[in-house]
Amino acid sequence: MRHFISVDQLTEKDIYSMLQKAESYRSQKVKDMTSKLFTANLFFEPSTRTKMSFIVAQRKMGFEALDFHEDTSSVRKGESLYDTAKTFEAIGANLLVVRHPDDNWYEALEGKISIPMINAGAGKAEHPTQCMLDLLTIYQEYGRIEGLKIVIVGDIKHSRVAHSNAKALARLGVEVYLCAAPGFEDPELEFPYISIDEAVEICDVVMLLRIQHERHVQKNETNNYLDLYGLTKEREKKMKEKAIILHPAPINRGVEIDTDLVECRRSRIFKQMENGVYVRMAIMSHVLNEWGIMNENFIEKRQ
Ligand code: CP
Repeated sequence: MRHFISVDQLTEKDIYSMLQKAESYRSQKVKDMTSKLFTANLFFEPSTRTKMSFIVAQRKMGFEALDFHEDTSSVRKGESLYDTAKTFEAIGANLLVVRHPDDNWYEALEGKISIPMINAGAGKAEHPTQCMLDLLTIYQEYGRIEGLKIVIVGDIKHSRVAHSNAKALARLGVEVYLCAAPGFEDPELEFPYISIDEAVEICDVVMLLRIQHERHVQKNETNNYLDLYGLTKEREKKMKEKAIILHPAPINRGVEIDTDLVECRRSRIFKQMENGVYVRMAIMSHVLNEWGIMNENFIEKRQ
């Protein structure tokens, strides 16, 4: 895998091997391999978790994370993603991490750039590193992924998390369900839709999504959303004994989920964020190894 654009690129073996690597990063001390690898985190959409966890992961691995802010960059003078990426390549970046509103941003760069790229979010199409950290969180909980029943709830149509996760979960043997308010369904995802009330009773994982207001053509009111379609305290009580709650965050508290449930015993929302660091280390290690830029022997077992 030369670039990491979609979870579709990974075999099942790759996925589980990366999850194991992420777990080993969680439990081992990471030794700086070099201070001469430069990473460029090119975020053309807002981010807290993805960008900051990539930076933490890069610093743990001893990389130099180059500072880029779209607002103060030459993008403001009309420079394209392609020219921005080529500039970072020219000045010595060894890896690009890119988030962009275009569903297919990478197509402009593929084959024209000689350093690896990692997709940190492509429009509403793909969020593969979020998918990998969600898989790790589920795996940690159940020791398996195959055979679970998982519902993805919310603004499916506009969610890159839903698109990456539904496909990957199905490929790993999950019984995938979708649950969406009218207008938030996506006919391209061919999985059964069920109500939130049925979902909480039958699923092992309730994966909530943020309403993506910024991608809506017309404004959607959310006044009754929690009661009609969200995870209320009453619905949480009906979940299976060991079922867990995931949400990629940021969270619209009181909309997708009752604010009191964000840190309840079932919630793994902050665990997901912690796992994001280790999964992103594993992904960077994988692609840099593939390009021969870094080998795998850079971690040192904790004494
Ligand atoms: N989950 C996620 O992608 O969060 P950010 O937008 O803050 O990176």
